[in-house]
Amino acid sequence: MRHFDFNAGEMHAEGVPLRQIAEEVGTPVYVYSTATLERHYKVFADSFKDVPALVAYSVKANSNIAVLATLAKLGCGADVVSGGELSRALMAGIPADKIVFSGVGKTPDEMRLALDAGIRVFNVESRPELETLNQTAADMGKIANIAFRVNPNVTAGGHDKISTGKAENKFGVAWKDTEKAFALAASLPAIKVVGVDVHIGSQIDDLAPFKATIQKVSGLVTRLRASGHDIQSFDIGGGLGIPYGDNRKAPPLPSVYGAMVKDLTRDLGVEMIFEPGRMIAGNAGVLLSKVIYAKEGADRNFLIIDAAMNDLLRPALYDAYHDMEPVKAPGSDFEETLYDVVGPICETGDTFTKNRSLPAMKADDLLVIHSAGAYGASQASQYNTRPLIPEVLVNGDEYQIIRERPTVEDILKTEKIPHWLR
Ligand code: LLP
Repeated sequence: MRHFDFNAGEMHAEGVPLRQIAEEVGTPVYVYSTATLERHYKVFADSFKDVPALVAYSVKANSNIAVLATLAKLGCGADVVSGGELSRALMAGIPADKIVFSGVGKTPDEMRLALDAGIRVFNVESRPELETLNQTAADMGKIANIAFRVNPNVTAGGHDKISTGKAENKFGVAWKDTEKAFALAASLPAIKVVGVDVHIGSQIDDLAPFKATIQKVSGLVTRLRASGHDIQSFDIGGGLGIPYGDNRKAPPLPSVYGAMVKDLTRDLGVEMIFEPGRMIAGNAGVLLSKVIYAKEGADRNFLIIDAAMNDLLRPALYDAYHDMEPVKAPGSDFEETLYDVVGPICETGDTFTKNRSLPAMKADDLLVIHSAGAYGASQASQYNTRPLIPEVLVNGDEYQIIRERPTVEDILKTEKIPHWLR
C-alpha cells in the first residue's frame, strides 16, 4: 500500500493533497507519512515478535523528534551516534534502556550524558575508546555496559561510501584483535561486557553478506562464552535495503530477512538487536518541490527546481536514484520529455537526475522526489545560505509542521563580525 499516491488527479500524502501543503507551508518541504512509518516499524518488529529482540531505530536516518515519537509510541528503541541524537531520542520518549550508542568517536562528554541517562549499551569500537569509557564511568561511580563492534571483513552495501564492514573501513575492532579486546574489557573495573555488535553497511539488497556475518559472529560468541564472557546480546546493526525505483533486484522483504536471522541464531540463546534506519524511514517521506524554470540547454532540457543538493544530498554524494513524479497526475495526452532535474546551487553536482523521462513540466508545477524520508533532512545543510527546509508530518487527513523553516535572519544572528572590523 502506497501512502503517497494519486487521488482525483493529484498526489496525496495519506488524506492530504500535497498541493495544499505546498500552498500553506511553501516549497521545498519534506513530507512524511505516519501510516508508512508505523507500517514499516510493525513489519520489521513483527518478523521478530516470537524471539527476544530489540528494534533500535537508527536515528541518523531521520532524526526529527516527531518521527522518533511516532516510533516510540510503538515500542521502538533507538540507535544513536552522538550526544545530540541521544537528547533527541530521550526527548521523544524513547526509554533509556532501549537506547544503544554507536559510533567510532564518542567523546567523554557524550559518554557522561549517556551514563547519566542510563542507556542500555555502548557499542565500543576501539581499545582507546574502551579505556576512556572505563575512566569516565569510574569517575562517575558507574558501570558501563558494553558490546564490542567487531569488523567481520565482509563486503556489503549499495555504494562504497556506505560500506562499513570491510577490514579497510574505520569501523569496529579488527577481527584478529576481537578476543584480546574482550579480555581487556573484562579486566576493567567500570566496564561490563554484555554483547557483540556489528554493522556491515547500508542499502544492502542481498541476504548473503548478512548470512556470512551472522555465521562468523556466532562463532565468535561461542568462543567468547567458552572464555567466560557473559554474552547476552547480538546487535546485527542496520543495512537492509529498500526499493528506490531503479534497483537491479528487489531487496529482501523484512519477513525473509527475519526468517534467515532467526534460523541462524536460534540456538545461540542471545537477544538480537537491530538498528534499521532506511528501511523504516526511507519510503515514508518525499521531498516536495516546485519548478522555478524549465530551461532549454544546448542539447538537453533542464528542470530547475527549488530544492537543491543542500536539501537532499544523496544524488550528489552517492549518485543515488530517486523516483520523481509531478503532483498533478499526467493526463492521457501527456507529452513525455527528457529532463536533467537540477537545483539552483552553483555546482554542476547539484543535479538530482539526468535524462529522466517525465511529463512535460513548466514553471510553478510541483514535483515529488520519492524515497526521501531517510538521509534527506538529516543530511541537509545551509550551503548557499539556503535555510533548512521545513518538515511536515501527515497523519490521516491532517498534517502538522514538525520543523519550521528558519529565516535568513535566524542564520545570520548566529554569526558575528569581530570587534576589530566594526
Ligand atoms: N547502525 C549503524 C551503526 C550505522 O552506521 C547505520 C548507518 C545504521 C545502523 C542504519 O543503517 P540503515 O538501516 O539505514 O541502512 N547516508 C547514506 C547512508 C549512511 C548509513 C550510515 N550508517 C545514504 O543516504 O545512503
